[in-house]
Amino acid sequence: MKKILHIISSPRGAESNSTHLGNTIIEKIKKQYPLSTVTVNDVVEKHYEPLQSIHVTAYRLPEDNHTPEHKQALRDSNTAVNDLFDADIIVVSVPLYNFAIPAALKGWIDHIVRPGKTFSYHTGKPEGLLKGKKVYLAIASNGVYTDGPMKSMDYAEPYLKFILGFIGLTDITTHRIEGAGIPGVMETAVQKGLESVLV
Ligand SMILES: Cc1cc2nc3c(=O)[nH]c(=O)nc-3n(C[C@H](O)[C@H](O)[C@H](O)COP(=O)(O)O)c2cc1C
Repeated sequence: MKKILHIISSPRGAESNSTHLGNTIIEKIKKQYPLSTVTVNDVVEKHYEPLQSIHVTAYRLPEDNHTPEHKQALRDSNTAVNDLFDADIIVVSVPLYNFAIPAALKGWIDHIVRPGKTFSYHTGKPEGLLKGKKVYLAIASNGVYTDGPMKSMDYAEPYLKFILGFIGLTDITTHRIEGAGIPGVMETAVQKGLESVLV
């Protein structure tokens, strides 16, 4: 039995390729571990607040010094961080937007990358505090980025691998539905992407 956390960051609901791909990964995991549970965090619906002065201050203060206002400002962040610590497997569904990640997903990242909570410099070097978890990235794009002339133009996967690794999530596998906007590729793009999921 695994606790799965599914981060959804497309606003396209049932039409979303990245959500579909993420769901396919989860189905495969559930075949292997039938009693697994799934927690969904739709970060588009969630609307994480862009970081304000109170968040930045609260992140750096010891919890004992938090005022009721700090506690209120940290509520969504604490839930997001607790969801991560609770999960065994994290599936992040990502639409490629402007060669990078959607703002909604960056909003979630700004609420989970927290000194003393998910990373620490106490040894002098950065240390990720989320350990022993598996991450799947489910990336959807109209272009093709695994090979060919656009290969170097995907900033989403390198950034996500870096920032998730920074908080300790280093075991990352990427699946893609790509080329969904390219004639000659688009016809089989979804099927090919879904079939690539072996888990
Ligand atoms: C605002 C916006 C920006 C996009 N930028 C890119 C891009 O830079 N490269 C690309 O290949 N596709 C781009 N696309 C196409 C999406 O990546 C594609 O539609 C993908 O399927 C979206 O994921 P979803 O189906 O999960 O919503 C963009 C789409 C939108 C709406």
